[in-house]
Amino acid sequence: MTSIKTFNAKEIESFRHAGKILGKCLDKMGKLVAAGITTKELDRAAEEFIRSHEGAEPAFMGYHGYPATLCTSVNDQCVHGMPGDLVLRDGDIISVDCGVLYNGLYTDACRTFPVGKISKQAQRLLNVTSQALEDAVAMIKGGITVGDISSTVQATVEGAGLTVVSALTGHGLGKTLHMYPDIPNFGDAGKGAVIPAHTVIAVEPIVCTGGDGIQESDDNWTILTKDGSLSAHFEHTILVLEEGCEVLDRVR
Ligand code: MF3
Ligand code: CO
Repeated sequence: MTSIKTFNAKEIESFRHAGKILGKCLDKMGKLVAAGITTKELDRAAEEFIRSHEGAEPAFMGYHGYPATLCTSVNDQCVHGMPGDLVLRDGDIISVDCGVLYNGLYTDACRTFPVGKISKQAQRLLNVTSQALEDAVAMIKGGITVGDISSTVQATVEGAGLTVVSALTGHGLGKTLHMYPDIPNFGDAGKGAVIPAHTVIAVEPIVCTGGDGIQESDDNWTILTKDGSLSAHFEHTILVLEEGCEVLDRVR
């Protein structure tokens, strides 16, 4: 039977260290995001920042052959947008997804940033997606089930009239980037595996303003909404504790 991996005190300290670097990296990305910058420039800055910390490496690089530090998913791109020559324009939204590998342990987090002035609809998408993640954080503790998290995210998203991109899920973290269990963004409270204290999980609502369908782009990485509607993605690396949890990529 598959079981959920738990971590000892030393491993948890490594996770905390990696999470801090990751949070600072995303803070830096938030400051760099502006009209005129390319996604490749963001990627280079993120790689340089991570590698400036001893023992820290970009976690996504080389993962199934992935060539970059960041996934940069713009507007209707949901996840796995490949950094390149795309120039950000005023009114865009960009999801910056990043991971740090430290002492053999993987962290993973994402924030969606506005570029300049964005539409009311786009701002609402960002607010609701971020809120769905924070609502999950507020209820996570040892002993809850995967379905408890899934249903919390779903309730916030659907309560706001937005759509969960159901094919994309969160996951366990540890010695690989994607570990058991998957953590869907929809489901029933009380169902699914029980999550013990001292596990580390990535919870990541991916939400769009239109229908639930997705398509893959020609680069074989980037996943977009089928109908061209906007998509946002917020993700934390979360250490589950007996009482509550710790967001490891939170710097302050
Ligand atoms: N945060 C992404 C995920 O959980 C990690 C992507 S790794 C990559 O799917 F190699 F696809 F970039
Ligand atoms: Co993830």
